[in-house]
Amino acid sequence: MSKDKLIIFDTTLRDGEQSPGASMTRDEKVRIAKALEKMRVDVIEAGFPIASVGDFEAVNAVAKVIKDSTVCGLARAKEADIDRAGEALKPAESKRIHTFLATSPIHMQHKLHMTPDQVVEQAVHAVKRARQWTDNVEFSPEDAGRSELDFLCRVIEAVIDAGATTINIPDTVGYNIPQQFGELLKNLIERVPNADKAVFSVHCHNDLGLAVANSLSAVLNGARQVECTINGLGERAGNAALEEIVMAVRTRQDIFACDTTLDTTQILPCSRLVSGITGFPVQPNKAVVGANAFAHESGIHQDGVLKSRETYEIMRAQDVGWTDNRIVLGKLSGRNAFKTRLKDLGIEIASEEELNEAFARFKDLADKKHEIYDEDLQAVVKDAFSTMEHESLKLIALKVCSETGETPVATVTLNVRGEEYTGSAPGSGPVDASFRAIDSVVGNHTQLMLYSVNNITSGTDSQGEVSVRLEKAGRIVNGQGADTDIVIASAKAYLNALNRFELPANPRAHPQLGDV
Ligand code: KIV
Ligand code: ZN
Repeated sequence: MSKDKLIIFDTTLRDGEQSPGASMTRDEKVRIAKALEKMRVDVIEAGFPIASVGDFEAVNAVAKVIKDSTVCGLARAKEADIDRAGEALKPAESKRIHTFLATSPIHMQHKLHMTPDQVVEQAVHAVKRARQWTDNVEFSPEDAGRSELDFLCRVIEAVIDAGATTINIPDTVGYNIPQQFGELLKNLIERVPNADKAVFSVHCHNDLGLAVANSLSAVLNGARQVECTINGLGERAGNAALEEIVMAVRTRQDIFACDTTLDTTQILPCSRLVSGITGFPVQPNKAVVGANAFAHESGIHQDGVLKSRETYEIMRAQDVGWTDNRIVLGKLSGRNAFKTRLKDLGIEIASEEELNEAFARFKDLADKKHEIYDEDLQAVVKDAFSTMEHESLKLIALKVCSETGETPVATVTLNVRGEEYTGSAPGSGPVDASFRAIDSVVGNHTQLMLYSVNNITSGTDSQGEVSVRLEKAGRIVNGQGADTDIVIASAKAYLNALNRFELPANPRAHPQLGDV
């Protein structure tokens, strides 16, 4: 029996970007969009074009380069929003406009100040307007998970009549429970008279940790599109994680009447790319893409897995992009071997300049660490790219004295827009002292909101990957750095974040706040 297709709609670049601190530049969005296309994601929601000039340009840039996935832009149910999305998407080979309007009593009354009749009228008008730009139009009744069933049916029937081809049911606040959410989908598909004229989709938030379970329950009840994000990034507690949805459906083909057409081997590279760009680390025990997802710590499990993999593994690590932690390159490897390995890993190097920078960093690492793994290469490239993009502050040297019973002191030399400066400061530990020394040079006034360190491979010679999140006047940015010395990695991450503050702020409207 042939299976239905489950459409994967990735919203990492839109809802994912709504996570505080996860904002991405146009070039970063293009890089992620290309990785999603390579993974054969069906629809890429590239942003909310009316939010700002930067957002418009990012959606437009993605629309220009992506050929094999449909590129989507979000628009409130307003003519100006829809026209802006239509303009941004013009160059796309295949495009979709996604328009939305809230339908729950609480949103209609307190946010929109609109009657149900006005909501139906505006939703229909929005869909008709979007149809003037494309025949691929998605409508979302925002907060559907807390809307009244009869009213939802009425709105959905009306927007399908107006030309909507996808109906997305969002659990905007992550309030639903799997069985009930599945029943909601079943009821809608059964009760809306023209339901067969549209694909039903779901978009679940993870406030109760149920986004993936709710999405899968909806799929079991007839949904044929899931909206999700890489690593579950997204507003508040995030969205359903793409990797979990895709692998659950793939692994349990005995239960699901549909499957995706994704190349799952691209899942891990994509996860790492998104984590690197946004500075949101992946927790080690995260399903599918966490460092421990396929690690067998306990002796019993190791024994079982060696006898037969199926004893404790339900998926093959290689199927989601894990390699065998092979030593891939070393000190004597040349540029060509380096370039070839990056290509095998799906890492695109856009220019000679990028290659030179990444290769120099690789050589530097190979001097300190004899065994270079794929994960090391990914970190080296990430580090090279993030520094090259915005670097008015560069680390020249860092010296830290740390000794039992003594206060650590750091001395740092930075290149600040072409001039070298040195500063020293004590701190409660070597990292604290380094950050204070940097502050003494740059006169920094940011608040540190997050500091975390992960080892990239195992062993004490592993590179440490550090993430920092800084806040200044309401603006939040993330920075990352990697090095075999975690104090240096920390300083790099701190400077990376400070450099990001030098970029224009791109103040933007939030799609779901404020009046329509
Ligand atoms: O969570 C939500 O309701 C959304 C909509 C814009 C689909 O993100
Ligand atoms: Zn959302």
